[in-house]
Amino acid sequence: METDIDTVLIDRAEIAIRVRELAAQIAGDLATADVRHPTIVPILTGSFIFAADLIRHLPNYVQIRLISISSYPGTAMVSQGATVKGQLTNLPDHLGGSDVLVIDDILDSGRTLRLVVETLERRGAGSVRTCVLLRKQRPEAMATPVDYVAFDIPDVFVVGYGLDFNDYYRNLPDIVSLREEVIEGASDGRAGLPGQ
Ligand code: IMP
Ligand code: MG
Repeated sequence: METDIDTVLIDRAEIAIRVRELAAQIAGDLATADVRHPTIVPILTGSFIFAADLIRHLPNYVQIRLISISSYPGTAMVSQGATVKGQLTNLPDHLGGSDVLVIDDILDSGRTLRLVVETLERRGAGSVRTCVLLRKQRPEAMATPVDYVAFDIPDVFVVGYGLDFNDYYRNLPDIVSLREEVIEGASDGRAGLPGQ
């Protein structure tokens, strides 16, 4: 897996420092807004590692409600439009005015975040705050409202720290780009990823 890496964009030490810093900022803002018991909504699957690290720096009583969104079917590297997947979530139908913090891995076209925010508002969230690990420097991402961004990155495809290519590489501790041969090999069926 390590040999598939092209460039390390953000290493584990930088991630750890920034996650701690962002959590302190969020905790401060929640305290200012008098939100004591936020409901955390990690968007599956990509945000699971970021969310796990971030929430362990929050001093609040938090409840976790998972939501599952599909936007890159199969090996696609271009977002195909986001849909909410009913299974594998414990998001209640009625949020009863709770204060929600949505956590996603990456803001790309912005479709996922918009869909989730609309869904949460429709289900009766009292307030919705949004937090992403990464935001790509492309116009659609920059035009999407978001409250917290850990890192702005160039418009390149990245994996690691929860982000996947074809559902692999989520367990890489750093945020990296992949060698072109790996991506080409996987998409035209030549060698590459396990099981291909
Ligand atoms: P959006 O709906 O286009 O903003 O896409 C967001 C989702 O697409 C993310 O939650 C990721 O699952 C996926 N995605 C977007 N860019 C990348 C990337 O560079 N690497 C891996 N997944 C990505
Ligand atoms: Mg993904």
